[in-house]
Amino acid sequence: MSRFLALLALGVVGDAAVLDWTTAYAKASSALASLTVEEKVGIVTGIGWTKGPCVGNTSPVPKIGLPSLCLQDGPLGIRFAQGITAFPAGIHAGATWDKDLVYQRGVALGEESKALGIHIQLGPVGGALGKIPEGGRIWEGFTNDPYMSGQMMQQTIKGMQSAGVQACAKHPIGNEQEKNRETISSNMDDRTLHELYMWPFADSVLADVASMMCSYNKVNGTWACENDKLMNLLLKDDLDFKGFIMSDWNAQHSSVQAAITGLDMSMPGTDYNGGSIFWGPTLVELVKNGTVPSTRLDDMVKRIIGGWYKLQQDTNYPTVTFNSWTGGTGGPNVQGSHSQIARQVARDGIVLLKNDNKILPLKPNGGSIAVIGSDAVTNPDGLNACKDKGCNNGTLTMGWGSGSVELPYLIDPLTGIRNRVSGSATNVITSTTDDKNAAAGAAAAAATPIVFVNSNSGEAYITVEGNAGDRINLDPYHDGNGLVGAVAAAAAGKPVIVVIHSVGPMLLESILSHPNVQAVVWAGLPGQESGSSLADVLFGDISPSGKLPFTIGKSRADYGDVGIENSLVDSYEEGLYIDYKHFDKMGITPRYEFGYGLSYTSFQYSALSVQPATSMPVGLYDTIAVVTCTITNVGPVAGAEAAQLYLSLPPSAPDSPVQQLRGFDKVKLAPGQAGTATFILRKKDASYWDVARQQWIIPPGEYRFVVGASSRDRKLAGGFVV
Ligand SMILES: *[C@@H]1O[C@H](CO)[C@@H](O)[C@H](O)[C@H]1NC(C)=O
Ligand SMILES: *[C@@H]1O[C@H](CO)[C@@H](O)[C@H](O)[C@H]1NC(C)=O
Ligand SMILES: *[C@@H]1O[C@H](CO)[C@@H](O)[C@H](O)[C@H]1NC(C)=O
Repeated sequence: MSRFLALLALGVVGDAAVLDWTTAYAKASSALASLTVEEKVGIVTGIGWTKGPCVGNTSPVPKIGLPSLCLQDGPLGIRFAQGITAFPAGIHAGATWDKDLVYQRGVALGEESKALGIHIQLGPVGGALGKIPEGGRIWEGFTNDPYMSGQMMQQTIKGMQSAGVQACAKHPIGNEQEKNRETISSNMDDRTLHELYMWPFADSVLADVASMMCSYNKVNGTWACENDKLMNLLLKDDLDFKGFIMSDWNAQHSSVQAAITGLDMSMPGTDYNGGSIFWGPTLVELVKNGTVPSTRLDDMVKRIIGGWYKLQQDTNYPTVTFNSWTGGTGGPNVQGSHSQIARQVARDGIVLLKNDNKILPLKPNGGSIAVIGSDAVTNPDGLNACKDKGCNNGTLTMGWGSGSVELPYLIDPLTGIRNRVSGSATNVITSTTDDKNAAAGAAAAAATPIVFVNSNSGEAYITVEGNAGDRINLDPYHDGNGLVGAVAAAAAGKPVIVVIHSVGPMLLESILSHPNVQAVVWAGLPGQESGSSLADVLFGDISPSGKLPFTIGKSRADYGDVGIENSLVDSYEEGLYIDYKHFDKMGITPRYEFGYGLSYTSFQYSALSVQPATSMPVGLYDTIAVVTCTITNVGPVAGAEAAQLYLSLPPSAPDSPVQQLRGFDKVKLAPGQAGTATFILRKKDASYWDVARQQWIIPPGEYRFVVGASSRDRKLAGGFVV
């Protein structure tokens, strides 16, 4: 397999609409020659919080045609804007395990941004990686597996940038919790840094990401946004990142240090009160008196306008007409037909966890359904009643904070179910609060009660029901366990279906303790198409095909020592062993393992084939082996199977995880149809980071791998020798 073919399969071949860096840099260098120091500093310094229409704005330089650059949140849609699409969150897109669909979601995000005149959209998220189940922002990224996160970052970035907007990979690195996020130091060992937390950003660079955003926290005692090793050495030298690094909003703490260590853009340029201007006039003086080399300022500008040229934003780019600070009005409606992609992602990211006696799919042909719980309906206070989604009233569609958007509309679960059964003889009974007596009444009156519970989290600047960003526990909010218990008791002898909306892992033991809870549907964070996608799955219009992008343990203790750190240092003692790598190492059986999800059909795996490279590949991202297998839909309905490859390093490697996800492929199949799942292993995928040698090393010996339906449902095993 040639390098070209490998890149093609990964979807990272250059897009015609995007210039290569050499061409973009050449244009940037020639523009740079005409700029004064003041003009250059205007490009690298934000004009101040709320001083322009976007969350971040720079100064224009008309003589080179450069407008005020518009930087806008966020990873699941456009914050502070109307007429946009509220897509499913990153964690939900991850649960689709569908690279093509995640690419299409990226394209749609980019199209909406471009149409609004946004130059740089602040997503996708590869950190927080999600090592801490309670971490407030783990839902903004795709999964806590670095390989899978890297793949989804690539797809999203390629999609967004093919549509013309600059993506921003955020936040390198170690922003794993909200508590003390601006003062805590993430001190991880060098192998963990490379194999876990930097990995998604390395893939982002492969996808040619135009910008990154350094995180709030410190790394080894030095703030990420003034950390020489992180920005200059790891990102710019080692990964050869050619784009620019902006500060997270107010994550800059110095003028000189930040400039010298690799920060390229100060955002939003002031603090939220208009003070703390580290660059601007100060940087002009620092450059003029030689404290900050003028070459460093030129490098910042080259990187920033290089991205603008690279995405060809210098020709016919729309002008910003919306205003973040007046309700996001003033711009065009940019939704196009994106509700279809939003619905498809929402639908394909639903994970069927339990389906005893094939109670699902439901037949909309009579009988009665009870829809129970506040999580089944729109927030009674209004669709967007809580700023930045900072409450947990009504059905959960996304977490809270800067990664949220205003819902343009919402098909809530009750509406989705009602729409689906309308015209049939099915009767829908409702109890749309979390009142247990009312719930019991509805459950007793219906043949099939469906009870909705949720678990929410978000960014630290908002506290919701005692959760200051990070979750205080992994239980459902509003005593969801008690609500399910009341429904299960009132529905004695009848099957109960539980639907869960959640930002991340939630403990299910209480819910599963009721024998008549026969089905559990993980409906994630589905965005505006929540109810329609849920109805698609509940009524069998589509077979569920999502799989968990994290592990659900039986108890909090199962996850080990990773938790919200109360001191100002997190020393990452768990190293490589987070999520399934910890469960595997400790021999703990999870409730539902990483990669798990049921279907209405069934799949057979066969014909495993391994083609190792005939000679040792040269580049880190060259192909070392290609694995394929046949997957056959042997069940009654169409479906899709996310097949997964887990690789074990040979015994010559130092202490390493039992197995690591190193490939996945989602195959869509009609009943009786067979298809091929392909896994392309790159040299890096078979390597470990050698700290002494400061290199990726291929440990010699026999590599073993399994291909299966989850991290524990192993179907085929193989190996190859290096
Ligand atoms: C942090 O310190 C550890 C231990 O000295 C080192 O291995 C690692 O590379 C450092 N990381 C950064 C980003 O400086
Ligand atoms: C350079 O300018 C900065 C900012 O005004 C000032 O703090 C610093 O003392 C100056 N350094 C020299 C060597 O003049
Ligand atoms: C919304 O949630 C808040 C708590 O975050 C609560 O005080 C308020 O009563 C809720 N409103 C409704 C209508 O449920």
